Amino acid sequence: MPPTTAPGAAEVARVQLPGAHAGLPGSEIELPVVIGSEDEHAVDVGRLRDRSGYITLDPGFGNTAACKSAITYIDGEEGILRYRGYPIEELAESSSFVEVAMLLIFGELPSKERLERFRGMLTDEQLLHEGMRYHFEGFPSHGHPMAMLSAMINACGCYHPELLSSEMDEERLLRATATLMSKVCTIAAFSYKMTMGRRMEYPDPSLSYCRNFLHMMFSKPHRRYEPPLQVVRALTKFLILHADHEQNCSTSTVRMVGSSGANVFASVSSGVCALWGPLHGGANMAVIEMLQQIHAGGDDPRTVVAKVKDKKFRLMGFGHRVYKNFDPRAKILEQTCSELLDVLGVSDPLLDIARELAGIALTDDYFLERKLYPNVDFYSGIILRTIGIPLNMYTVMFSIGRVPGWIAHWYELFRDPDRRIARPRQVYVGSGKRPYVPMDARG
Ligand code: CMC
Repeated sequence: MPPTTAPGAAEVARVQLPGAHAGLPGSEIELPVVIGSEDEHAVDVGRLRDRSGYITLDPGFGNTAACKSAITYIDGEEGILRYRGYPIEELAESSSFVEVAMLLIFGELPSKERLERFRGMLTDEQLLHEGMRYHFEGFPSHGHPMAMLSAMINACGCYHPELLSSEMDEERLLRATATLMSKVCTIAAFSYKMTMGRRMEYPDPSLSYCRNFLHMMFSKPHRRYEPPLQVVRALTKFLILHADHEQNCSTSTVRMVGSSGANVFASVSSGVCALWGPLHGGANMAVIEMLQQIHAGGDDPRTVVAKVKDKKFRLMGFGHRVYKNFDPRAKILEQTCSELLDVLGVSDPLLDIARELAGIALTDDYFLERKLYPNVDFYSGIILRTIGIPLNMYTVMFSIGRVPGWIAHWYELFRDPDRRIARPRQVYVGSGKRPYVPMDARG
């Protein structure tokens, strides 16, 4: 049901409904058209059922805007990504992750004073309550760090009742943001140390956000880890590029949970669970597993591509629901990856295999027809591997990057005067009414 009025001037869409077949009042109805600030057109079906008896069906929400949002803009055809209007390329080149987080959540790049104050809050929040440390001890050492992260974020809310209030204002949000952004780093590093059977390294308040995380991950009691500048820069870019991506699966989950009035800790914790799957954030881990298999003497890249075309499996790190030309994040990360390896003077055979795979796929009709290109996860794992992050923590790294985006969306929804609990409908396709069958009469 496309809008019938010319783009730009559209105010209503006329929709023809086949009432005669459905036993519903047929005829043409007019629906309002909402136009976004970048001239995107959406038919507002909010009153469709009231006025016609029809609902819409859109599995996977490929055609459905769940909300209006002012945080992130994507043009998938042109490969454009902007946070609050700022191109991702410029932010990745010039900003710190903490600045970008503040931009996403509060809408503007912070002044020097505001940034310094927030950095101070991040430092204040680095340590975990001793009670949280006891929680850690309850996890088996082989537990998955994503399960630990999600559980610990939710538990964190129990230690901050003042941040669960429904009176969330900007000052409280600033405190909640500092708590979540700081604690996820500490939790992630603690979970790594625990799986390694090593002593947990306390955060160092004198270090920047990224350096402190690397310190907690890699310093040892007898040897402090001093990361090369290029490693800090690559990690910063990785986090900035993962910080938000509008209504993806995990962010939509955060908004869905938040729509019930759930607090920011519970909502962000649900985002971690949604991110875990291999079609979403878990793809960064799946890409490396795929490349490792090829490297270990499994199939060569051509055979892999042939199997993908036979629908035997998906090429991980390829394809995107929104990007149909290129993913700007993948472009930046490929370059970051090359620079990092060059500066450190190391080579990674997985990067060569990734490039070979991409080269074959990008000239193959199967991929061209379906507009499948490398996405953010295709090269990011090689960066994480070079930094020394263990494979089972790749999606945790994605989560650390995405926390600001989840908070930004939670708060945008929280403040929305038109907020309603998310409650989709369904088209029931099960059995019709039938009489109950007693136990002894069942076959
Ligand atoms: N390898 C091979 N074929 C693919 C791939 C792929 N990675 N992705 C999509 N296709 C094919 C799919 O088989 C289908 O073909 P056909 O029309 O013949 O049935 C067509 O392309 C459309 O696929 P779709 O499943 O309808 O696409 P979608 O928009 O529902 O899925 C996606 C998007 C990202 C889940 C999917 O491309 C995919 O599974 N990619 C691999 C996993 C991945 O890299 N995920 C990370 C996404 S980016 C970061 C993030 O969101 O976390």
